[in-house]
Amino acid sequence: MTVRENLAAGAQTIVFLGGGRITSAILAGLKLVKHEYKLRVHDRNPEKLRQLKRLYAVSVEPNLGRAIAESDVLVAAVRPDAMRELLGNLQESRPIAAATGAKELRRAARPLAISLAAGVPLRTLGKYASRFRWARAMPSPVGRFGRGLTAVAFPHDFSQKDRKSTKDFFALIGTVVEIPEAKFDAFTVTYSSSHGYHALAALADSAQASGLDRKTALLASAHALADGIIAWREGKVQLEELIQEAATPGGIAAATLAAMDASGYGESVRRGFSAGLQRARENAAK
Ligand SMILES: NC(=O)c1ccc[n+]([C@@H]2O[C@H](COP(=O)([O-])OP(=O)(O)OC[C@H]3O[C@@H](n4cnc5c(N)ncnc54)[C@H](OP(=O)(O)O)[C@@H]3O)[C@@H](O)[C@H]2O)c1
Repeated sequence: MTVRENLAAGAQTIVFLGGGRITSAILAGLKLVKHEYKLRVHDRNPEKLRQLKRLYAVSVEPNLGRAIAESDVLVAAVRPDAMRELLGNLQESRPIAAATGAKELRRAARPLAISLAAGVPLRTLGKYASRFRWARAMPSPVGRFGRGLTAVAFPHDFSQKDRKSTKDFFALIGTVVEIPEAKFDAFTVTYSSSHGYHALAALADSAQASGLDRKTALLASAHALADGIIAWREGKVQLEELIQEAATPGGIAAATLAAMDASGYGESVRRGFSAGLQRARENAAK
């Protein structure tokens, strides 16, 4: 079923459990596109709920039981170290009889739940909240601008219909890729927009220290990091060719890159990567 067909069958209510950074980014992205999902947020902080309601015109529900009762799909968006508690609450909570009759009966059958928690595997989700059928998704906060990238992973017995409705939802805010769960941590470490922002800050700081004003330093650094990469992604030229073109042998760029490599650029990235993977393993063990 496409999003349109799903919606024709009755607008689905998506309930976010946790109204923090990633939920805000997704809601902002969804505000940019036409869709007919009903969006609701549950969080333990009333002030966050008030703010989300004001910014994104979503409905909010401070009571977990009622939030579950009113949902077609749950999106678990609490931090990994808060997941165990949330899973326990989900497993124990019984939908409050606000939704009654046939709709409640339909919802009683193992609802679809999507976890955004980094490093928390499907086996943990199923173990502690077995009354839901779990998928995982790793959306990017850049979805806020409609330029997201979301990886999704499903248990092997997940229906095509559930796979499709999960992907269709995240496709509203950017590209979606389905990958095996075993690759999820590597994807999570790699895809983070923090790499770009981090590199931008470091390059701009060096540029400023070499005499550029802040504005020009940021403009030049953003061009260096973003514009060529966007053009590469949209075109057909090989990455190696573009590196050759931009860094003339014996020239300034070549000398800059060689000095960065010699002082451990590659090693630095590798170390960062393994620290990220290690953190994902720690999250999985909690
Ligand atoms: N941020 C990203 O870019 C990003 C990207 C992809 C995936 N993720 C994943 O998304 C999840 C959320 O990340 P985030 O950055 O959005 O975290 P966040 O900003 O801390 O938001 C989580 C929210 O959930 C609330 N919460 C925690 N436990 C709760 C519970 N039992 N019941 C109700 N509300 C509860 C938190 O309240 P308190 O503040 O009181 O704890 C907070 O308001 C994480 O697992 C992360 O791995 C994040």
